[in-house]
Amino acid sequence: MTILIVNGPNLNLLGQREPEIYGTSTLQDIENSLNSLAEKLNVKVNCFQSNSEGDLIDFIQQNARSSSAVILNGAGFTHTSVALRDCIAALSIPVIEVHLSNIHAREEFRQTSLTAPMARGIISGLGPTGYLLALEYLVSTEGVS
Ligand code: DQA
Repeated sequence: MTILIVNGPNLNLLGQREPEIYGTSTLQDIENSLNSLAEKLNVKVNCFQSNSEGDLIDFIQQNARSSSAVILNGAGFTHTSVALRDCIAALSIPVIEVHLSNIHAREEFRQTSLTAPMARGIISGLGPTGYLLALEYLVSTEGVS
């Protein structure tokens, strides 16, 4: 079984995109750290990023059955996508929602997450560490393997 790491639109630009908000780590850096931690925890991660709502949903639907959990940063779709929320609601595996920035300390439109109520929990504002904490939590507390 695998833990899916799903990143939404514009996260491919991490490192150069608004570094004062999102930091200087690239998505590749974050995925490398997740792969190293996964190896230590003896689990596998499958990382995917897309700028397209449909591609994110297709990836989750196609892989959920052979996966044990999802770590999701839906990026802008967090605040807009009923379709992504419905996709998460249909899953029987735990989903942890992660945001690099603290969405509750930002513009009002970012303070609503349509996906968060479908998630086991959310980590927001801890930068790339949030992804690693989500992975540790899934393995240590949810017993995901
Ligand atoms: C984000 C926060 C979203 O509001 C924004 O649209 C993103 C990134 C974050 O990780 O902080 O693209 O999900």
